[in-house]
Amino acid sequence: MLIDEEFINSKIIDEYKLLLKSRLNEKRYYHSLCVADEARRLAALYGADENKAYLAGLLHDITKNATVAEHLQIFGAFDIILTDVEKSGEKLWHAISGAAYVKHYLDIDDEEIVSAIRYHTTARADMTKLQAVLYLADFTSADRDYDDVDVMRRLVDKSEDEALMYALKYTINELIEKGAAIHPDTVSAYNFIVLKGLKNEG
Ligand SMILES: [Fe+2]
Ligand SMILES: [Fe+2]
Repeated sequence: MLIDEEFINSKIIDEYKLLLKSRLNEKRYYHSLCVADEARRLAALYGADENKAYLAGLLHDITKNATVAEHLQIFGAFDIILTDVEKSGEKLWHAISGAAYVKHYLDIDDEEIVSAIRYHTTARADMTKLQAVLYLADFTSADRDYDDVDVMRRLVDKSEDEALMYALKYTINELIEKGAAIHPDTVSAYNFIVLKGLKNEG
């Protein structure tokens, strides 16, 4: 599957939008459109593939409103075994099921897109450009209005690494405050950015 400008302007995208509309509530559908636009913008800024970023952004939350039963069905169908931390945080499920959904049900065989969706909630160490673009676009899309969104919007325009650092700190602090477990991939992502910063200093 070649994800180029022609594909992004084809009627397949209209079909994906109809599918999203049927699967998501109105707010989440609008969020998906906003993340697609923001991902394309950040891709241009950071040197990632703009068309892949748009598609990953559009589809990233495709299973966000799925029921527990559908999640379990997807995990079962594709032999996905959740870790204890993943089991404890339902918010983490849709990134795992969403990656499986686009790969197996929409036949999106582009691993870059699939893995960007897979890590859009936890992040991970040493992210690809597309992974970072989607992770950050989810923080700065036009529909977002959390406390620090203005700071995040300034940072994504300034520096990918500074934005990642801020977003990861924000996420980790929030999890600690809620008394929730922190996914090991999020810890690895944070450590990776910290160590990269120290290396650049030294
Ligand atoms: Fe999400
Ligand atoms: Fe999202």
